[in-house]
Amino acid sequence: MNQQMMKQAVANAATEFLVPHLGENVTIGIGTGSTANFFIDALAEHKNKIAATVASSIATEERLRAHEITVIDLNEATHIDFYIDGADEANHQLQLIKGGGGALTREKIVASAAKEFVCIADESKLVDQLGAFPLPIEVIPMAARYVSREIVELGGKPILRANVMTDNGNIILDINDFTISNPNETETMLNMIPGVVTNGLFSLRPADKLFLGSASGRVKELRIKSE
Ligand code: 5RP
Repeated sequence: MNQQMMKQAVANAATEFLVPHLGENVTIGIGTGSTANFFIDALAEHKNKIAATVASSIATEERLRAHEITVIDLNEATHIDFYIDGADEANHQLQLIKGGGGALTREKIVASAAKEFVCIADESKLVDQLGAFPLPIEVIPMAARYVSREIVELGGKPILRANVMTDNGNIILDINDFTISNPNETETMLNMIPGVVTNGLFSLRPADKLFLGSASGRVKELRIKSE
């Protein structure tokens, strides 16, 4: 099975998991990216059972609406029951790096608001230590150079993502060569730099469950491993 097939397989697994929970008062948060797109397309088969969704990006909102799935604003939602999204990296504690698609801020908001966060990814995303994937941070444009200097002080190499403006009108810096030995600490520290809107570490609020696709076609369900 290639990577696209694995993404399709985990999207199907998440759909199978979710369908029995769908109902009148159930709101689903929907992530962004190619794996999330497979999930949206699989979920659309059950659109008559979907009361409402909250999208984590304009692209996701457009895809949901194209399927005639109801999308509401987060401010209209009294609760979010499930959040389903992909990841760029996941460790065995289900802490993630996200933001490869630039949607990290809205993704983190919707994930944080959700009662259960289900991550879907192919096996290439599972790592022992986070950080080989450059860590995205969303930054207010006027703070780009200041934040870059602060990141260099912390030992990382920030690279401006060219020609990208987020749905919130901001820029993305991708932090390369950054050691993340304590994801909770790093997430908190980056949040404290003025001008940083969000960083792509999803550590303080990790996923609750990870559907991981493998080349053999098998989809494993991982939960947080106790230390
Ligand atoms: C978007 C994300 C995506 O979930 C992440 O980049 C994984 O993408 P894909 O499913 O295309 O591999 O965080 O901001």
